[in-house]
Amino acid sequence: KNTDPTIIVIFGSSGDLAKRKLFPAFQNLFLDGRMPEKFQIIALGRAEKSDEEFHSYVIENLNSFSRKAALSNEETQKFISHITYLRHDIDKEESYQELDSKLNSIDRTFGARANRLFYLSIAPSFIATISGNMKKLRLAANAKQDRIIIEKPFGYDKSSAIDLNEMLSQTFKEEQIYRIDHYLGKETVQNILAFRFGNSMFEPLWSRNFIDFVQITVAEEVGVEERGGFYEGVGALKDMIQNHLLQILCMTAMEAPASLGADDIRNRKADVLKSIRRIKPDEVNHYTVRGQYDEGFIKDKPVPSYRNDKGIAPDSNTETYVAMKIYLDNWRWQGVPFYLRTGKRMQEKQSSIIIQFKPVPHSSFSYDNQGMTPNRLIINIQPAMDIKLQFMTKKPGLSLSLQPAEMIFDYFQCSTMSPEAYETLLSDALAGDPTLFMRWDQVEQAWDAIDTIQEVWKNNAPTDFPNYKAGSWGPEAADELLARQGHAWVANTQNIVK
Ligand code: BG6
Repeated sequence: KNTDPTIIVIFGSSGDLAKRKLFPAFQNLFLDGRMPEKFQIIALGRAEKSDEEFHSYVIENLNSFSRKAALSNEETQKFISHITYLRHDIDKEESYQELDSKLNSIDRTFGARANRLFYLSIAPSFIATISGNMKKLRLAANAKQDRIIIEKPFGYDKSSAIDLNEMLSQTFKEEQIYRIDHYLGKETVQNILAFRFGNSMFEPLWSRNFIDFVQITVAEEVGVEERGGFYEGVGALKDMIQNHLLQILCMTAMEAPASLGADDIRNRKADVLKSIRRIKPDEVNHYTVRGQYDEGFIKDKPVPSYRNDKGIAPDSNTETYVAMKIYLDNWRWQGVPFYLRTGKRMQEKQSSIIIQFKPVPHSSFSYDNQGMTPNRLIINIQPAMDIKLQFMTKKPGLSLSLQPAEMIFDYFQCSTMSPEAYETLLSDALAGDPTLFMRWDQVEQAWDAIDTIQEVWKNNAPTDFPNYKAGSWGPEAADELLARQGHAWVANTQNIVK
């Protein structure tokens, strides 16, 4: 826990992320006694607002989005009193001068130069202006105390990410830059490391010798909601695969780190990204499938197609679904396909990792026509939060036939309240622990792994969009991607055992 006096500056404090995630996360950390004793949040925004007006806006949003909203109004009032609103114009130097005076005056009331955490919850196009002005006014000049959190997407391809990074490095040292990927803050994602390296029994099986394939799914029921303007031209490859899914892949496939130190862990993850087999342009169709949702039904409710969603061009070619096959060229994983898929407007919200083990070399149960279910280890990330091990057992009865069974560890059985991803990540950023944030080389390698795909897609418009129904499991081509190797998506992880 960080006990140093701290000032948090939120650029874009009236935006969607701030209201849904940031203020609720700070409030919950505060209620849990995890904020420093002396802290102040400076909320920056374009509109003219008094502190009181901004406070009631925050309270209203806490009531809708905070998991502890109703717990304690008195305590929430105390939290709110730590927030100051400051009108800010991103393009005007005077605004940064005012911010500078505000920071200095808070330092004076704290009686010390406080740590500063700047959260850039704004469109990427503003980053250059903000960081230039921060440099000019030396707002984050103390590398030991000052940090900046940058939201994804970090660039839109490798070369723009390099430019962005070079620009940032004129103002900040690498150790000051916290590139956020909120999936890394999820309890169940962090548990992958605990599960893999806190046990001896799974690790010997964790390789090409025993694993047939790995499947990583991040399926969402939601469409683009209010974010059409952002999502158009970004698409699922850049919005989800480049970051969240590749990070889950890293946790699943990495070697054991020498320690839990930030760089030891990040080195091993970077190794995975480096070992992703780079595909050639003429192989893109063989390894990937892109999709866009048509109208359909989500939980029996009709929903429009992507092209008819708010803020979307009627002839948009932005993909809302991606499936891909990845090979890792290293000793542990040579030849094992990692199937990744993510999509909006899918049948069910479900993020999971499925490790499917090789079939038995010879079945002594050939007289039994039930068929064998392969051994699987299923790590459910959300909304189910559990780990399941599936195996065959004898069906009770006089004959020796088989049935699948499973052992389950369910998070909700040991805790009713896991912190939200943003709570974990903000708490780490306050404490100066960058382990769960993306180091520059990870971001660069992740872009490098997908740049060819986006290049080929950009130059070859899809001819079949929309190609999956809202409420389905994606385009048929995604099934064919696996069927070519005799594999199939394990669709509903909740009901495998009948
Ligand atoms: C964000 C993407 O990073 O992750 C969104 O930009 C997506 O498009 C979201 O909906 C999913 O996050 P979660 O935590 O709801 O799975």
